[in-house]
Amino acid sequence: MRILSGIQPSGTLHFGNYFGMMRPAIALQAEGETFYFIAEYHALTSLRDPKALRENSLRVALDFLACGLNPDRGALFRQSDVPRVAELAWILSTIAPMSLLERAHSYKDKLARGLSPTVGLFSYPVLMAADILIYDSDIVPVGQDQKQHIEITRDLAVKINEAYGNVFKLPEPRINPDTQVVPGLDGQKMSKSYGNNIDIFGDEKEMRKRVMSIVTDSVPVEAPKDPERSTIVQLYSLFATKDELANMRGRFKKGGTGYGDFQKELLEKHWGY
Ligand code: ADP
Ligand code: TRP
Repeated sequence: MRILSGIQPSGTLHFGNYFGMMRPAIALQAEGETFYFIAEYHALTSLRDPKALRENSLRVALDFLACGLNPDRGALFRQSDVPRVAELAWILSTIAPMSLLERAHSYKDKLARGLSPTVGLFSYPVLMAADILIYDSDIVPVGQDQKQHIEITRDLAVKINEAYGNVFKLPEPRINPDTQVVPGLDGQKMSKSYGNNIDIFGDEKEMRKRVMSIVTDSVPVEAPKDPERSTIVQLYSLFATKDELANMRGRFKKGGTGYGDFQKELLEKHWGY
């Protein structure tokens, strides 16, 4: 079984990247042949500073290794190491319907955030399809936000197979239901582009500032609180054991503990992880 995923070197890695993609991708090394790469060509659609791109690329590679990726058990490489990917992207673009790409949520979100509507940004999913299809990938571990890109990849593979015979395998996304959308400081999806991220290797002071700024409601210390709606509980669940999580939930419901104390517990749990 071939497992493939990519990550853009567009910034530093956060909890969402780690739990949504990196950790599952590393765990999958036990199940098959893995191909993980740094998607610099994708990052060029949003980051043009060559120095930052180089530094981020190195950092993503180091983060992968620091988090446990075994380079002897699979390939860790740069997208640009395999120029044929860009050639395949061109071929795929000749059969990719405009209407399919126009429906991409990620493209619409990026325009809404103020990115320029370039051809590169628009055809981003075509390059991603080339990344996946060229290696005959079976499984693609990603977070929920990339699901539609994999559906587009499958659509393009079917179109090529219909036109030219059985050329491509149809890949499946692998999305972990417990970590498919890790919330950020404001409760929305954590993303470096929303500025609501907590970095996995951030310095202690910055991490403390960020965790203590997780948005909460105004329920007073003594009153019971709703664990289901709390970002603190959701983030704590990523690090805690079942018992620890049940304990925090219980104390939420009971009242008598303020959000600040729960935030400190989350911070300690993270440092001990
Ligand atoms: P960002 O939104 O911060 O720019 P990327 O697009 O670089 O993140 O995502 C890299 C990988 O991490 C993708 O597989 C993506 O699905 C996953 N990912 C990113 N943010 C989250 C999140 N908040 N929850 C779960 N997975 C995420
Ligand atoms: N679009 C992905 C992201 O932003 C990165 C990516 C590029 C990717 N090519 C890929 C992910 C191929 C999986 C497979 O996270």
